[in-house]
Amino acid sequence: MDMTKIPARQGNYNLKNYETSRKDFDWEEIKKEFSWYKTGKVNAAYEAIDKHAEDPTKKDKIALQYSAPGREESITFEQLSKKSNQVANVLKKHQIEKGDRVFLFMPRSPEFYASFFGILKVAAIAGPLFEAFMEQAVRDRLEDSEARMLITTPELLDRVPVEELPQLEKVLLFHADQDVDGDKFIDFEKEIDNASDSFDIEWVDLEDGMLIHYTSGSTGKPKGVYHVHHAMIQHYATGKWVIDLKEDDIYWCTADPGWVTGTSYGIFAPWLNGVTNVIRGGRFTPESWYETLEKYKVTIWYTAPTALRKFVSAGDELVKQYDFSHLRHIMSVGEPLNPEVITWGERVLGLRIHDTWWMTETGAMLIVNLPCMEIRPGSMGKPIPGVDAAIVDNEGNELPPNQMGNLAIKKGWPSMMRAIWNNPGKYESYFINDWYVSGDSAYMDEDGYFWFQGRLDDVINTSGERVGPFEVESKLIEHQAVSEAGVIGKPDPERGEIIKAFITLNPGYEASDELLEDIRLFVKTGLSAHAAPREIEIKDSIPKTRSGKIMRRLLKSWELGLPTGDTSTLEE
Ligand code: WTA
Repeated sequence: MDMTKIPARQGNYNLKNYETSRKDFDWEEIKKEFSWYKTGKVNAAYEAIDKHAEDPTKKDKIALQYSAPGREESITFEQLSKKSNQVANVLKKHQIEKGDRVFLFMPRSPEFYASFFGILKVAAIAGPLFEAFMEQAVRDRLEDSEARMLITTPELLDRVPVEELPQLEKVLLFHADQDVDGDKFIDFEKEIDNASDSFDIEWVDLEDGMLIHYTSGSTGKPKGVYHVHHAMIQHYATGKWVIDLKEDDIYWCTADPGWVTGTSYGIFAPWLNGVTNVIRGGRFTPESWYETLEKYKVTIWYTAPTALRKFVSAGDELVKQYDFSHLRHIMSVGEPLNPEVITWGERVLGLRIHDTWWMTETGAMLIVNLPCMEIRPGSMGKPIPGVDAAIVDNEGNELPPNQMGNLAIKKGWPSMMRAIWNNPGKYESYFINDWYVSGDSAYMDEDGYFWFQGRLDDVINTSGERVGPFEVESKLIEHQAVSEAGVIGKPDPERGEIIKAFITLNPGYEASDELLEDIRLFVKTGLSAHAAPREIEIKDSIPKTRSGKIMRRLLKSWELGLPTGDTSTLEE
């Protein structure tokens, strides 16, 4: 079989023909499917949850099918609506107002989702954090966003430097095991249980803030990518077209809500489409994920190459022990989807795996393989209806097919970020004329399929997690033995890239395995596990430009044995 082009399987897809769907496309038509189009009353929490809870035919449908080791729960739209109303009442009681930042630092659980919608219902801005973050990562985000409130659990509290965050007024604790002081620390569950389950939702403007996700660039601290309620238009539409969500689907997005995929596609897309959403807590193993697919009869699955590669390594025999007959559609995001993985999907599951490309900044999918499209393994696909993509040079001129350049998107898609929090200069730097420039290099073939080639900056993608080298370098040099540090992504067959650090030592320190392990642990426990370098190499010096910038590109060339290119700016 020709694996360079896989034809679409026949199916009654929501979006039936790529070319005709793009012709005369108008986002206005999509808006008509929202309640606010008629009522003028906007809030994404209403469209995702309350609207279905008010519908007698929908209210008892399972919205959230939760499963984690030791806990399983089925929560209806009505129950989720009421629980989030209770949360909203507690937030209001503590004077949370429109535009305030309320951060969430807790495991993936039903409480997380109720809290998330509670935040939106008072018109505040939600800031979800990865549960794996350690103190530095938590501090940077709470400081930059000037969060007034944090929702967390006692277990995670020792990673929150509460005393050093003067703007943080309240810390709401789930599962508070002992009495809390009640002034700054609140027993959240107790207050929720005592709160009314009805709430007059705060209506907002489409351009009002909804969400901040912090993400990494190649320089500086993580940036707060700011999204507004307007984004729901594209969450809903891509849920319909690309995920092909239908009334009876059981959908599972494996992403954590600390990552944009876990909100745009773990929260909004399924619930705006009124579909049952499977949420799984706990750690990844191929067995436990296969069990989840089987047990809940998942029909649509959105996951990532790093997980799919582990399934491939786990072997075909394992798959045969499970029944996946109900599974009809699989998608992937976050890093390049290896053609081998697509071949595996076809052979073992009898299904194509559909790659999707987008970024935290873009808020929703932009370049995709629709179910009705031919797939070219290795390609990210084509732009969705209503979106124009191109390959441009550094001046923003469009390049012809098959030429490598900057992957760029014509401004103005609904879910585009509206700001980088507190950093207008950074926001502006993403744009050249009418183009949003992604920082990815790619080319487009004659038929309009886009092919990812790599990052143009130094951002590292390890197991689908975006890591900024600057953050890791900054942490490394806080270690008493480390003088200077340069951090790169090194290609790795399973993780995509691993983090490799080059360091110089301070006088008086000798290289040893213990020291290197100590440095690794220092980053792991100070920043987060996924940011800890898997390899550390000691050097006599770190190459820098005359202006003092670390030349990561040179480190990478050395590491990979590639030509070093232009080194004219290298310091003597
Ligand atoms: C990479 C949010 C290849 C890319 C979803 C992008 C991909 C960065 C793909 C965004 C894909 C994402 N193929 N690379 N299908 N999808 N990327 O903001 O470099 O955490 O710029 O992802 O991930 O990372 P982010």
